[in-house]
Amino acid sequence: MKNVLNFCISLGLSIFLLTSVFAQVPTESWRPSVHFSPKKNWTNDPNGLLFYKGEYHLFFQHNPKGNQWGNMSWGHAKSKDLLNWAELPVAIPNDSAFIFSGCVVWDKMHASGLGDLKKDLLIAIYTADFPNTREEQHLAYSNDDGLTWTKYANNPVLNTNLKDFRDPNIIWHAPSQQFVMSVVKPFEFAVQFYGSKDLIHWEILSQFARQGDYGMIWECPSLVEMPIEGSKERKWVLSVSSQGPYKGYVGMQYFVGNFDGKSFVNDNPKEQVLYVDHGKDFYAAIPFFNGMDSEVFWLGWALNWAYAGEQPTFPWKGQMTAARTLRLVKTQDGLRLKQVFKPDFTAKKPDLILKNIQVGSSWAFPVQGILKDKSYLLEIDFSDAPKAEFTIAFTGEGSFEKLNIHVSSENRKIGVDRKQSGQILGAGFDQISEATWIGDRSRKVQILVDHSLVEMLAADGTVAISSLRFPRAKSEKLSIVSTSGPLKIRGLKVWKLK
Ligand code: FRU
Repeated sequence: MKNVLNFCISLGLSIFLLTSVFAQVPTESWRPSVHFSPKKNWTNDPNGLLFYKGEYHLFFQHNPKGNQWGNMSWGHAKSKDLLNWAELPVAIPNDSAFIFSGCVVWDKMHASGLGDLKKDLLIAIYTADFPNTREEQHLAYSNDDGLTWTKYANNPVLNTNLKDFRDPNIIWHAPSQQFVMSVVKPFEFAVQFYGSKDLIHWEILSQFARQGDYGMIWECPSLVEMPIEGSKERKWVLSVSSQGPYKGYVGMQYFVGNFDGKSFVNDNPKEQVLYVDHGKDFYAAIPFFNGMDSEVFWLGWALNWAYAGEQPTFPWKGQMTAARTLRLVKTQDGLRLKQVFKPDFTAKKPDLILKNIQVGSSWAFPVQGILKDKSYLLEIDFSDAPKAEFTIAFTGEGSFEKLNIHVSSENRKIGVDRKQSGQILGAGFDQISEATWIGDRSRKVQILVDHSLVEMLAADGTVAISSLRFPRAKSEKLSIVSTSGPLKIRGLKVWKLK
């Protein structure tokens, strides 16, 4: 009996040891090369995005102690090109409160009067979350370009005694000579705007609530003025993280309108919904603070709360999307957000250019070697095929894994099918993510492949679909399959990114 007991104990112990060893296997083949992921441990939202003294700063929701959400603090990384990121020490660690999402402002004029007036001053305003009790807006400042931060002694700078009240994002509004903060009451589906001259004292300006999609809570708002392509006009865009195009899954939406220094007025009917991205993996994006007059660009968290905890990566969990420049375009349906990859992947000569490809019923990409690193931008121009139905397939070598991009040119639909793309996380991960593009937009698609992240921009950047995938196959092959008879692809280009 004793022997049986010993045997059971040692068997149990070995199973435990084996599973914990396997659970700890690093998954570097899923780590993106030109997108940010922390060296180890958890990240969710990008925070405090800032372009400052020639460098891009990315602070991020971070658990410095584990590979799951918890101990929320601000991690920090910076980059000169938005492709190569250097991770720096934790910028703002948690104390009795979790350091939730927020923003960083360059207080050029020393409006706050904080810190060393002879040095440059960065101000972070973030939500201090006292679990299950209260969320307040706190301030911290840095005189060493964001490396170390001092928490303001008289925090909070904004408190409404609400359990949920978070994610402040700040711009400088020149016409009214004030800083304007957007912040959400998540369960009231409301963005509130506050004004301040010194970043310390905040007065309520107005509230914008219950428009567009409010099927799930609202988080991470941002208000920014941006150019309308091809004109001198500018318009305001209010974005919020909310429910996305798929019921029960978070995503992002935007509203186009005017802001007069007090209220934001939506140009469109309040029930109209405009989504930022039709994939399931684009959330919590906020614009980079860069003085506000220049280009507007942002990046988001490439994951979805519905299955975030199940992402099978180790020793990190969570990654950011590529930065995207934002502008509005006039389409036959009205003004729409256009996103363009901000790193200029296409500035250098493509590694491959193919023209006038005759697909027949199927076509195999002839130079598979180029795709070996799984980090490249692929551009396909199918303008000569206005009626075609076809699939761009990425098939794992020696496996049944595939990621399919279906295009129905006549119906103007484009969709990503990751049903068989590898490891599936939770229900709904395997649903097709699909968008319909507006009639007057081009038939061109850019697909940014970076290991476990595939970001697609189509129809002049008015359609975005961001999708994670977790293939087991080491390398993959590209092919195009037509289901509408012979098909001609006008052009295909590849830029390797590594
Ligand atoms: C959005 C969010 C924010 C919050 C943070 C906490 O993903 O829920 O509202 O500040 O994450 O980590």
